[in-house]
Amino acid sequence: MSDLRPISFARGAPSLDIVDVEGLKEAAHAAFTNDPAGLTGYGTAIGYPPLRAWIAERHGVAPENVIVTNGSMQADAFLFDVLVSEGDTVIVELPTYDRTLLSLRGRGAQVRMVELEPDGIDVEALARLLDAGVRPTLAHIIPNFQNPAGYTLSQPKRERLLELARSHGFVVFEDDPYVELRFSGERLPTMLSLDPENVVYASSFSKTVAPGIRVGYLVGPRPIIAQIEKLATGTYISPNMVAQGIVNQFARSGAIERSVQTVKTALAQRATALAAALERELPDARFVKPQGGYFMWVKLPEGTDVAALFTAAAARNVQFVKGTDFVLEGHESTLRLAYAGVTVAEIEEGIARLADAYREVTASRG
Ligand SMILES: Cc1ncc(COP(=O)(O)O)c(C=O)c1O
Repeated sequence: MSDLRPISFARGAPSLDIVDVEGLKEAAHAAFTNDPAGLTGYGTAIGYPPLRAWIAERHGVAPENVIVTNGSMQADAFLFDVLVSEGDTVIVELPTYDRTLLSLRGRGAQVRMVELEPDGIDVEALARLLDAGVRPTLAHIIPNFQNPAGYTLSQPKRERLLELARSHGFVVFEDDPYVELRFSGERLPTMLSLDPENVVYASSFSKTVAPGIRVGYLVGPRPIIAQIEKLATGTYISPNMVAQGIVNQFARSGAIERSVQTVKTALAQRATALAAALERELPDARFVKPQGGYFMWVKLPEGTDVAALFTAAAARNVQFVKGTDFVLEGHESTLRLAYAGVTVAEIEEGIARLADAYREVTASRG
């Protein structure tokens, strides 16, 4: 086993230096002082009402269109429970977030993956599937700085996707935890704002505040939110009021804007450092430099055994996630590098070690 310091490009989580721990302590103190009953009581299944109101205002919807949950994973699970039955067809991006894939497959959904391009899902390939008679109930889309690819869905594709959803009667599930983390280029409108009738939107405070706070939410049509509220009551009576009270205070005091700025500044530096290190150390790597978010998708030459690279990297105490985790089949020569949890110095050191592992793997292949 290597005694080198571990460097992980595996986790989609921020490093501690970009979490505003002091700000969260202050928010906790203020939240308990301002509303002791609201924080310590059971609360309501729809979430802490002042936070729900803040989120509704940010999205220009009524509070009745919002439910606040324990992380957006819980929101996803509730939505799938309501909208996806065994045997239903669900469209996802190829590649997509591994936990979504597992969750849908665990529910017995027929998952149809549609190629993800650097400007988002191939909407014309989706249109061809629909023309061929595929009838999805839902399309799961990560529009900004996609997990795992880091790609962003262009505005024309957002509009085309909504057109397809309307004409073929499926719901677009816009899973958007990275939206606030754009560090270059222009912000695009959410699909929720373009077509609130056909979109259910999810986001989270995990990537902008801290994942341990476990606060996420859904915005959607009232009948769907009302159904999920019933499900939430039966599941946990109410989500964590203490965490939501702290997030509410953190958001309303303006601390969240500073936190987002801190995270974005670090991400921009880290993405630049990662791209430069790959170009320098691993010139065989192909990637699109993201305009925000946590992830970069790396393609190595066809035939490269990324499973062997994973083992060789682990022997050098470097972790990443294999591309095969984000697909149903294939993609054996791809990998995801998360740069949110590593400093610039760690990126440089980690990519040098990864390149060394790559040389070993390609040399043994001959
Ligand atoms: C696309 C996507 N959706 C949902 C989640 C889950 O987020 P949360 O921490 O809010 O449960 C993640 C986390 O990595 C994600 O990348």
